[in-house]
Amino acid sequence: MKIVMVGSGYVGLVTGACFAEFGFEVTNVDIDEHKIKALNQAKIPIYEPGLESLVQQGLKKGRLTFTTNLAQAVQKAQVVMIAVGTPSRCGDGHADLSYVFQAAEQIAASLTSYTVVVTKSTVPVGTSRQVAEIIERARPDLKQGVDFDVASNPEFLREGSAINDFMRPDRVVVGTDSDKAKQVLSHLYRPLYLIETPIVFTNIETAELIKYAANGFLATKIAFINQLSDLCEKVGADVQELAKGIGLDGRIGRKFLNVGPGYGGSCFPKDTLALSKTAHDQKTPLTLVDAVIKANDDRKLDMAARILGALKKRGAVEGQQVAVLGITFKPNTDDLRDAPSLVIIPALIKAGVKVCVYDPLYYLGAERLEAIEKDWPSVTWAEGPYQAMEQADAVVILTEWNEFRALDINRMKSILKTPTTALPLLIDFRNIYKPAEMGGVDYCSLGRGVA
Ligand SMILES: NC(=O)c1ccc[n+]([C@@H]2O[C@H](COP(=O)([O-])OP(=O)(O)OC[C@H]3O[C@@H](n4cnc5c(N)ncnc54)[C@H](O)[C@@H]3O)[C@@H](O)[C@H]2O)c1
Repeated sequence: MKIVMVGSGYVGLVTGACFAEFGFEVTNVDIDEHKIKALNQAKIPIYEPGLESLVQQGLKKGRLTFTTNLAQAVQKAQVVMIAVGTPSRCGDGHADLSYVFQAAEQIAASLTSYTVVVTKSTVPVGTSRQVAEIIERARPDLKQGVDFDVASNPEFLREGSAINDFMRPDRVVVGTDSDKAKQVLSHLYRPLYLIETPIVFTNIETAELIKYAANGFLATKIAFINQLSDLCEKVGADVQELAKGIGLDGRIGRKFLNVGPGYGGSCFPKDTLALSKTAHDQKTPLTLVDAVIKANDDRKLDMAARILGALKKRGAVEGQQVAVLGITFKPNTDDLRDAPSLVIIPALIKAGVKVCVYDPLYYLGAERLEAIEKDWPSVTWAEGPYQAMEQADAVVILTEWNEFRALDINRMKSILKTPTTALPLLIDFRNIYKPAEMGGVDYCSLGRGVA
């Protein structure tokens, strides 16, 4: 079976490489010529553990190819998956579907034989049907159900563990009205039947909404534990133990109950906004989701205020320096989209704080740094955590990269600038360390109230 992935970003590239690994013939398309050129040389434009070797294997075995020529690729395909970006539309929070619709137009122009056109991008309810309309409008010679079908097949992989998530998913969701499309997609996901992956077949609208509902629910869990963490601080409770105590209840589950500086990344913020927008448009507001969005926005600002508050206790905030460890929204990814750091660091800069950043994937001279360097001209960049601490008055851990889990605390104490009346200041927004082990440190973490 020949498959085309339209879009070769985090989702398109991982999905394409995994389908090629399963033995399908995959062509990954992108409009970004540099990306395609690099991929043809097995150079991966993103950081995702294990992806490079999978792409190398696919290229070597001839099952994975990369091109900018969508027309040629689509002509030979049985399945064309749209995996382009759906960022928040400026102004109203609705998903910007311009890339999806543009891809649909391009696909329509090139269809030659029966093809299932699949929306793998996260798209609001109704989008896949709009894709079908675009194809019918562009190609009146084609008939839905005969020459093509549409399906929704949302993706649930997580950056940082994307390959395992794709190869061993909790479930696969396929929404389509067509038996023929169902057969084709059943064949596509046959490799996963062997590991007994549940495949949920549903109508198109349900599949589209499942993706948003899943992300809305997970975002709610995070916002819930973050708010509970504030209450723990006030009443002398410990949020880590609280999360364990509720998470061991099978109805609740342990995952997504880690306290932190607010959710970020390329999915939760934009997907909760788009879900809320859809609900308001349908005059059925999801007030719970609205509250989660607000709680998360407030959370990021509150984290900045906490850092400033801790610095203020030591003197004038302006001119103090902070070493920020980790800026990506989670470890094992280079994705900065909507990361809490994008709110927290500008707030520090605005208050006159000097910021030096160390992130394992963003270091001096790195190509990917250029984009954020423009936004944060005053930030300096270190090549390691201890270099970031030089001249700093405090350390702030924003992302729980592995290399921050066993910092040499004595070394940190000796490097940090500390007034004689105070202790070295470590602000840990991921609760990596235990307060009991932080003797001689002014250690601030989240949700660990003192009775
Ligand atoms: N990143 C994730 O963890 C994740 C997880 C699940 C679902 N999703 C969803 O998957 C979709 C893609 O996300 P992503 O993170 O891979 O985005 P991305 O921005 O990393 O990649 C999108 C790619 O599409 C390309 N593109 C745009 N228009 C094109 C066109 N007409 N033809 C060919 N290529 C085109 C872009 O150049 C880019 O390389 C989004 O809807 C997202 O919400 C993302």
